[in-house]
Amino acid sequence: MNYQYLQLDIKDYIGTIQIYRPEKRNAMDPQSWDELDQAVKELNTNPLVHVIVITGHDKTFVAGADIQWIHDRKPMDIYGLAVQDILLNVYRSQKPTIAAINGYALGGGCELALACDIRVGCVEAKFGQPEVNLGILPAGGGTQQLTKIVGLAKAKELILTGDIIDAEEAHRLGLLNHVVSKEILMDKTYEIARKIASKSAVTVKMLKIALNESPTSDLSSGLALEKSLQAVLFGTEDKKEGTRAFLEKRKPQFKGS
Ligand code: COA
Repeated sequence: MNYQYLQLDIKDYIGTIQIYRPEKRNAMDPQSWDELDQAVKELNTNPLVHVIVITGHDKTFVAGADIQWIHDRKPMDIYGLAVQDILLNVYRSQKPTIAAINGYALGGGCELALACDIRVGCVEAKFGQPEVNLGILPAGGGTQQLTKIVGLAKAKELILTGDIIDAEEAHRLGLLNHVVSKEILMDKTYEIARKIASKSAVTVKMLKIALNESPTSDLSSGLALEKSLQAVLFGTEDKKEGTRAFLEKRKPQFKGS
């Protein structure tokens, strides 16, 4: 598919989506959301991709939803825009997602980062849910995901005040896994991506299913899910190879099956 508002690159089993709408600081209009959705689906079905990286262009990750679009719309228009489904697709992506946050991640941009599995930010990155300043609420998962990542009290403060925080604070709160200088943002991101891409793809897929269930499942259901997924993995070639490689004191050669 041809994309207008993003650039797609595949290398070393890593698919990179760069949001590219510079004149609007990468703010997301319906077409940009749709393209993001298509790109995540495309990379999920491409066997040459094991890990997905999402980043922004220039000094912005994503400056949120397009405020002009929001201004011009009526209540029922919300139902014509599938932002929640798209961000849920990112969250449920079978392949791990890493957000490389190169600048402002505001509103829907912060929510896009929250939907990813791992977040690496540069020192200049800034985060916030400023929707309250526009008279609306963060409806791309902000009130749901931020609470799970930084805790209810801090999420309430950030969402109710609309305050913007810097990368250091985001790191302290657990919103960012790593903060690095802008020069090495992509190097650090790809270092993590390569590490995950070298594992068994089928194991990573099962791990994501189990991990994604953990915030909402009770312990005994979570353990039952782990047991079932483990039973699946016990039947894979990769489990045979991983255990054999350990016993033979060599590196495993995983095939993803
Ligand atoms: N929606 C629509 N347009 C946006 C936008 C958004 N979310 N964010 C930025 N833009 C546009 C600006 O209107 C401006 O357009 P113009 O050149 O036609 O005037 C252009 O992008 C550049 O933005 P500007 O504010 O001049 O850039 P900046 O570098 O000084 O500031 C931000 C960058 C991200 C801090 C600032 O643009 C901002 O606060 N954006 C809105 C963030 C927000 O509230 N997001 C939540 C939306 S629900």
